[in-house]
This record gives sequence, C-alpha cells and structure tokens, in this order.
Amino acid sequence: MSSETSSRASITVELPQRARNLYGRSADISRLRAVHDDEMARRRSHSITNGQLHGPLILLLHGKPGVGKTALAREFAHQLLGEFRYKPLYADLHNAVDASRLRQILVDFLQALGDNPPPTLKLPGLRQRFQDISAGRHLLILIDSARDAAEVEYLLPSETQCVVIVVSRRSLAPRLAGESHYLGALSTDDSWLMLAAAAGTDAFEEA
Ligand SMILES: Nc1ncnc2c1ncn2[C@@H]1O[C@H](COP(=O)(O)OP(=O)(O)O)[C@@H](O)[C@H]1O
Ligand SMILES: [Mg+2]
Repeated sequence: MSSETSSRASITVELPQRARNLYGRSADISRLRAVHDDEMARRRSHSITNGQLHGPLILLLHGKPGVGKTALAREFAHQLLGEFRYKPLYADLHNAVDASRLRQILVDFLQALGDNPPPTLKLPGLRQRFQDISAGRHLLILIDSARDAAEVEYLLPSETQCVVIVVSRRSLAPRLAGESHYLGALSTDDSWLMLAAAAGTDAFEEA
C-alpha cells in the first residue's frame, strides 16, 4: 500500500477546467443531459409521492483510452454546475486505486464539505461518515478513470438528489446504473478540426 505522502501528492478534489474547445460531442452531451433531466424529474416526483429511492443518480460513461472520455465528462460536469449549491467534488482514480488512496479521497471529500474526520478512521468508517454528511446535500461528483464498480461504491453519497458522473474504460453497468453511455471515436470532420487546431490551421492549408 502506498504511503500517505505519496497518495496525497496527486489528489485534488477540485473539478479541473473544461477543455477550451471541445469538438463534436453534442449528441453525446444531449444524451447524457436527457438521462440526467429525466431521472432528476423522476426523483423529484418520487420525493413528492413518498416513493422509495436508493442512492444518487449515477451517470456512467465508458470508451477506449484516448477517445475523449475525460474531456467530455469535464465539459458535462461544468454544464451541470449551475444546478448545484455546493462546490463539485472530483476524484481521478487513475485506473488503479488502493485502499490508502480511497481513504485519502474520502478524507479530502469530507474536508471539502467542512468536516474534519478523526485520523484513526478506517475506510469503512470514512465511507459511512461521507454517506452521513452528504445526506440532504445536493452534490455533483465526477469520478474519472475508475477501474471497477467496487472502488466507486466507496465514494458514493447516500443522497438521492446527488449526481455522480463515473468514467471508465469499460462499462460499469449494470452494477452502478442501468446503462453506461458508450463514447465512440469523433467523426472524421471533427477529428480533422481538432487536429487542425492542435497543429495550427496553416499546417493543413499548406499540405
Ligand atoms: N472532443 C474533443 N475536442 C477537443 N479535444 C479533445 C476532444 N476529445 C479529446 N480531446 C483531447 O484529446 C486528449 C485525450 O482525451 P481524453 O479526454 O483524455 O481521453 P480519455 O479520457 O478517453 O483517455 C486530451 O488532450 C483531450 O483534451
Ligand atoms: Mg481519461
């Protein structure tokens, strides 16, 4: 297990900036938005009719390495931000996370919410504490590069009005949600636009 110091170094719970220019992806964003809006409306009416709901809304996104999952998830999280009163929480699991790192992420999540968990608290205790403290709060959480569902479950709030976006290389449905949005390659036109912007348009005009 890695030391506290090395786990600490690369952790941030601040949502990173969105890409300055995101090419294409409007259909993907519309799809995620539709699922989000439908599900949140369903949840709101459930609370009115006193129905039973469990856990946050989890929006799953998966696709091959380098296809643009992180860029899209950040963009989508920024688009949702205005609907949340609290600062968003963010964790990058780097496709490989151990108990020490999960523990540190939970400590950082709790501290971001104004809590100061006792240093002796182990992973199960921290998980419970995060569930307790998140109750009643409308939080947006982005979990990037998750390897499997089990590690994500440690980071889930209990509150049904929370939204958790989870990004992974493979689908984490059905364990975390009914479906996972598959992110395919950019269209050829959008890929050219992106390449042209990266290389400077002139490079392509001269070719
Ligand atoms: N639609 C896009 N528009 C602009 N840049 C993009 C787009 N998709 C991906 N990128 C850029 O391509 C690189 C790889 O994308 P990334 O989101 O990190 O892929 P993944 O998370 O699927 O491995 C990043 O530098 C990212 O900013
Ligand atoms: Mg990524």
